Amino acid sequence: MAKKNIESVAVAGKRVLVRVDYNVPLEPESGNVLDDTRIKATLPTIEYLREKGAKLILASHLGRPKGKREPSLSLSRVGERLAELLGSPVKTTSCCCGPEVQEAAHSLEPGEVLLLENLRFHAEEEENDPEYAKALASLAQVYVNDAFGAAHRAHASTEGVARYLPAVAGLLMERELAFLGRAMVDPERPYAAIIGGAKISTKMAVLESLLERVDKLLIGGGMANTFLKAEGFNVGESLAEDGFLERARQVMARAKEKRVLLLLPTDVIVADEFAADAQAKRVSIKDVPDGWRIMDVGEMTVNVFAKALEGCKTVVWNGPMGVIEFGSFAHGSHRLAGVVANLKGATTILGGGETAAVVEELGIASRFSHVSTGGGAALELLEGRELPGVAALADA
Ligand code: 3PG
Repeated sequence: MAKKNIESVAVAGKRVLVRVDYNVPLEPESGNVLDDTRIKATLPTIEYLREKGAKLILASHLGRPKGKREPSLSLSRVGERLAELLGSPVKTTSCCCGPEVQEAAHSLEPGEVLLLENLRFHAEEEENDPEYAKALASLAQVYVNDAFGAAHRAHASTEGVARYLPAVAGLLMERELAFLGRAMVDPERPYAAIIGGAKISTKMAVLESLLERVDKLLIGGGMANTFLKAEGFNVGESLAEDGFLERARQVMARAKEKRVLLLLPTDVIVADEFAADAQAKRVSIKDVPDGWRIMDVGEMTVNVFAKALEGCKTVVWNGPMGVIEFGSFAHGSHRLAGVVANLKGATTILGGGETAAVVEELGIASRFSHVSTGGGAALELLEGRELPGVAALADA
């Protein structure tokens, strides 16, 4: 169901509470923002609202402080980065509710921006406490949710607050839902999904959901090991989840039945230990030596995947092909990123988190149609689940 967006509400002179997802990595020593992608992604909404004369109250969580004030998880550094990006001051508060915040919100002038302190310093946020939601709502006259990355959470600031104010989607939220929603409902074909990442347990439901929608399913990363093992290959010391062998077999059988092309790695990079400087070699999937573990896909696999992607009109990719935190085993993911970036005439959508980090690091993010800012939220959407933060918004 399409949702109302910020263009459908009058905001001039009004206080607008904008839920953003500024859950960004910080440098442990200095507290500086290490990756500002999520902050930059909210600029169109902030700039639009300022231009319309709204008074902006931004609210976000950062990390998981579990209801306690944790100075290292203060949003103050994030506010500084936002001010740099906007080229104008951002006011901050030491809390996200109470008299100080009421005063700060009510004294805003049109175009001014206030960033509240970390919402999760109060346990009531994650509990979706109605009083806490009402307190947030009392700061503003309109609620805008631009926090796609947190839309899978039914928290006070993502779900509860929408009951007490006119609630609409921000421009980032709208863009995320347009790209990911289209891939779920009305994709241009041929449609391929590439699913990687370490653990199959976290992505099985996504695989099963995508299998019903795609023409091609390309599986790599640690999760491919369970499929390879289910096929009877020796995976040595590689991570494989035995509890999922049967479901992996069912997925492969269903793919055959539906005539979906399901591809697994045909060659892999194996290492003698789980370390960046481990001894490594490329082998056929038939020859993984005992005692070794799979760390990346091999060149042949990337070539086979590239061939399968040729001519596809929609490509969704979530999860790396190898242990990218060790640079020596990021090669397969980097090469595949280049292949997807170069596809002509295709809508290319990257799920957030690690996959987004790969293309950011390579400096090629702009060559994809859409790089999602949501990790868990993008996965839940691809699983076909309703996101509480989206469901709470007014229908268009
Ligand atoms: C994310 O980074 O995925 C979102 O900000 C949600 O964070 P959470 O998993 O701590 O709820």
